[in-house]
Amino acid sequence: MKFFIDTANLDQIRQALALGILDGVTTNPTLMAKEGIKGEENIRKHYLAICELVGKNVSAEVISTDFDGMTNEAKRLSALHPAIIVKIPMTTEGVKALKWCSDNNIKTNCTLVFSAGQAIVAAKAGANYVSPFIGRIDDSNWDGIQLIEQIVHIFRNYDFRTQVLAASIRNPLHIVRCAEAGADVCTCPLESILGLLKHPMTDIGLERFLADYRKSQQS
Ligand code: G3P
Repeated sequence: MKFFIDTANLDQIRQALALGILDGVTTNPTLMAKEGIKGEENIRKHYLAICELVGKNVSAEVISTDFDGMTNEAKRLSALHPAIIVKIPMTTEGVKALKWCSDNNIKTNCTLVFSAGQAIVAAKAGANYVSPFIGRIDDSNWDGIQLIEQIVHIFRNYDFRTQVLAASIRNPLHIVRCAEAGADVCTCPLESILGLLKHPMTDIGLERFLADYRKSQQS
């Protein structure tokens, strides 16, 4: 399973990169706004900075809602850096844009996916990634992990090459459950990635090993 970080914060990206296990970055307009990135030129510069840091798999989202706008943005974003994957929402116009991008060798990530039906359509349109939002599904009293299992199962039935990118991750257990379900990628906040490393018995065990080492050196 590939690990992406779901942030536009350069410092958090650097921290995840330093672990040596990061495969990419996903952003969205909310995450860009959170970093205070305003204006087309600054947004382009920020995407470039992320691409230069990570070098691969950087999702950059379109903000147009019509086919012409989305495909124009897709052309501009993909020309910015080879690492860019254009994030396109699951709408009627979005599906047309996904197909156009697939026909024109522009990599895409279909975002805002909340059902298996939407995932099938995105795969048929040639999306490289499909992003089910599992945390938001859990928030609405449905089971996000079950949706990942369902999509993975369907894609395997038909050998779809679209990768399942579990998004809207809220905790380390979500990541483990996505791995069990066979997600190809998990895009996670930094805290959830770091949370995977933690276990109280590791800390207790390490403390004891070091105490025993210190004692052995005194005698
Ligand atoms: O990047 C899309 C997705 O991961 C958003 O997550 O936490 O806003 O539901 P969240």
